[in-house]
Amino acid sequence: MITMDRVIISPSILSADFMNLEQEIRAVKDAGAEWIHIDVMDGHFVPNITIGIPVVKSIRRKTDMFLDVHLMIENPEKFVCEFAQAGADLITFHYEAAENPDRVISLIKDCGKKVGISIKPGTESNRIFPYLKMVDLVLVMTVEPGFGGQEFMHDCAMKIPSIKEAAPENLIIQVDGGINNITSKICKSLGASSLVAGSYIYGSCDYKKAVESLL
Ligand code: DX5
Ligand code: ZN
Repeated sequence: MITMDRVIISPSILSADFMNLEQEIRAVKDAGAEWIHIDVMDGHFVPNITIGIPVVKSIRRKTDMFLDVHLMIENPEKFVCEFAQAGADLITFHYEAAENPDRVISLIKDCGKKVGISIKPGTESNRIFPYLKMVDLVLVMTVEPGFGGQEFMHDCAMKIPSIKEAAPENLIIQVDGGINNITSKICKSLGASSLVAGSYIYGSCDYKKAVESLL
């Protein structure tokens, strides 16, 4: 059961050392993070290629952490079931990438997984209002999806209050992109309940300090 009484930290392994992924995941767990954020990019929806299904499967074998899979891919309906079988706990797809968001949501739910829907910086929040009652999480991108280490876009965070107002009480509002000890405070004060952070955590020399500074 996902509850809302705390901020859920989801370190993005995009900024981790891929040669030592098992240790990198264990290290953020020991540092107090609850989820692991896995950025899947296809080179079409975004101009980068990252992690795919076999890596999710391998991660699942090595950790009991909640796997938060962020799909930045075209035609998400073709792949959501495979990501579910690979061991994802939550599958977030992009509103802009789905021809039929209702169908993607149903497919993910039918696999018994939590569902997230995400919007890019250029997409207005009201576009996803029809889906708020059907999903577990809304992911507000505060950078253009594709790369870690970009600067936080303040305007995008301003979408959070309107989503919160329109959303059922239990909906998790997650923010991804440019999160650090300062931008995290802005997002929390606007109503975010989950924060993704890649370069801020994995680029620090003390993961515990970094995670704690986001809580
Ligand atoms: C960007 C990804 C993010 C990225 C965040 O497209 O979705 O999850 O890893 O990286 P930072 O925290 O460095 O902005
Ligand atoms: Zn992400």
